[in-house]
Amino acid sequence: MFNSRIIGLGKYLPDNVVTNDDLAKIMDTSNQWIVERTGINERRHIVKGSDDSPSTMAFKASKIALNRAGIKASELDMILFATLSPDLYFPGSGVLLQELLGISTCPSMDIRMQCSGFIYSIATADQFIKSGMYKNILVVGAENHSGGLDMSSRGRAVSVIFGDGAGAAVLTRENDENFGIKSSHLYSEGKYAKELSLIGPSTQRWVPEIMDANDPNDESYFPFMNGQMVFKHAITRFTEVINEGLKFNNWESKDINLLIPHQANLRISQFVQKKFGLSDSQVFNNIMNYGNTTAASIPIALTEAWEKNKIKPGDKIVLAAFGSGFTWGSTMIVW
Ligand SMILES: CC(C)(COP(=O)(O)OP(=O)(O)OC[C@H]1O[C@@H](n2cnc3c(N)ncnc32)[C@H](O)[C@@H]1OP(=O)(O)O)[C@@H](O)C(=O)NCCC(=O)NCCS
Repeated sequence: MFNSRIIGLGKYLPDNVVTNDDLAKIMDTSNQWIVERTGINERRHIVKGSDDSPSTMAFKASKIALNRAGIKASELDMILFATLSPDLYFPGSGVLLQELLGISTCPSMDIRMQCSGFIYSIATADQFIKSGMYKNILVVGAENHSGGLDMSSRGRAVSVIFGDGAGAAVLTRENDENFGIKSSHLYSEGKYAKELSLIGPSTQRWVPEIMDANDPNDESYFPFMNGQMVFKHAITRFTEVINEGLKFNNWESKDINLLIPHQANLRISQFVQKKFGLSDSQVFNNIMNYGNTTAASIPIALTEAWEKNKIKPGDKIVLAAFGSGFTWGSTMIVW
């Protein structure tokens, strides 16, 4: 029986910083509203016409992660690509990343679990490594939200929250069972699928149908979010799934060296921090600078925490996410 362990991390954020004041110039919002409700000060948006896309941003983050891991792309046995905003409707962004990395053939799988995508991908990679089937797996999360948001006042409750970016992690086989991914805990509840969703374009709302309707009030191709319902479920599920991971490993909240929650909303992270009685140094947040980057948010935060020397060998690290689906999960790691 093997364990799996993260041996390299990388992140990439587009250069273009969009502040709350920038948004207030194009929609009816304010810095004060956004900061009070979400904790976000600024986010990054891809500049239209630049070569940034989910796969190219993932490529940049992956190169850093591979370099830090000290392994070549050709040594990868598998790519797992978490995104809700793939470059193309099909095929998935994983194959595009594979080509950019110059790997002629390997399995490349997209994981469409939205904000929980990185947790699901880590759990999947962990199982492939534990089973002995693969040794080195690249897991990435990357999103281009900005191109598809309603940037008018109509879409303000959603569009102020989301940002673009990519994060990557290289996992490898670990023979010492005291280190690495200790457990993952995954859930979904499709009853709430439409509460945080994008209906069109899809097979329920094909592009020709949208074009034929030619309706300026059609919002079906913008993301929809029932904010208050998401908030309520998020704080309950975050708490449950972190508790489950702690119990499973016989850890207590005081044992956590660093909790990295999916950066959904600073108020959600603060609620979870309080619920577990964690100090500020036990929780890492960077939503202030990047907004909510969905599947990319945990790998970006994990990379930044590592770069800031907040993660040391032997530390107990807890990752947790909640998002569209609804989906949620946690991963418990001894670094
Ligand atoms: C989205 C969210 C910040 C909205 O906060 P809220 O306190 O629920 O706010 P409401 O939706 O009740 O709206 C309150 C008012 O602010 C207005 N408003 C919404 N967005 C606004 C914006 N960007 N700027 C200014 N006002 C805004 C609303 O129109 C409403 O006005 P009204 O009272 O005149 O009708 C909050 O619901 C939330 O954080 N939900 C979770 C979202 C999340 O984490 N999503 C990611 C999941 S992975």
